[in-house]
Amino acid sequence: MDDVNRHIVVVADPAALAVAAAERLIARVAAGGSRPAICLTGGSSPKRLYELLATENYKARIPWDCVHWFIGDDRFVSPDDPLNNMGIARRLFLDRCAPPENIHAIPTSSSDPQTAARLYEKALRMFYGGDVLSQNHPLFELVLMGVGPDGHTASLFPKSPALHEQEKWVVSVDHANVEPFVPRVSLTLPALASCREMLFLVAGVDKRAILARVMAGEDLPAGLARSQHDTTWLVDASAAGRA
Ligand code: 6PG
Repeated sequence: MDDVNRHIVVVADPAALAVAAAERLIARVAAGGSRPAICLTGGSSPKRLYELLATENYKARIPWDCVHWFIGDDRFVSPDDPLNNMGIARRLFLDRCAPPENIHAIPTSSSDPQTAARLYEKALRMFYGGDVLSQNHPLFELVLMGVGPDGHTASLFPKSPALHEQEKWVVSVDHANVEPFVPRVSLTLPALASCREMLFLVAGVDKRAILARVMAGEDLPAGLARSQHDTTWLVDASAAGRA
């Protein structure tokens, strides 16, 4: 990979990927002080990880009362809609493990995506305790990410003006490039970058082509998304082209 702070880790398969991601998450929580914040991701890639975190062995290793859970983007659908990213995370692990006050969903019951974005940004700033993100004090310990077939990440799509946002922490996105074609709310690149580690989860042969494009340095959102500290691409052998 092209710089010291971004590296790729290849594991055998999706099961190994979930285990490796869970171990990293637990390590980041352990090193994250009294109130570690984790930013979750949507899509199908994190589902095994989420299920794993709710199993007895993993559940027992997380100090649930301390950890705060956010989400990098959501679809502007009601919280109980099957497409809602935080809804998926809640059903797979959070509702069984985390205190409700530690689960910080994008308020998709708001009147419109702009309002939801504004409210989430306010919630993030309050949690952070300031309006200026400092490199020495990242917003999140860990940010999970996925990559879509067009190279989008979170709900930041190729060529979107949202990619250039430098002030806002959260934006509304009127049109999605890929299914589901519903408006989105997304953290911006600077907000996502404010973490000790950004961890991409990439599995399956369907990801091989887009992964190769990102790694080749094409101008794609997933390639632009970086942590101010460490960025790791956790990739299975099929996606890496080694299976
Ligand atoms: C979303 C996501 C999105 C996702 C990628 C990968 O709301 O859809 O947050 O950025 O991570 O599209 O999705 P898959 O894991 O389903 O391939």
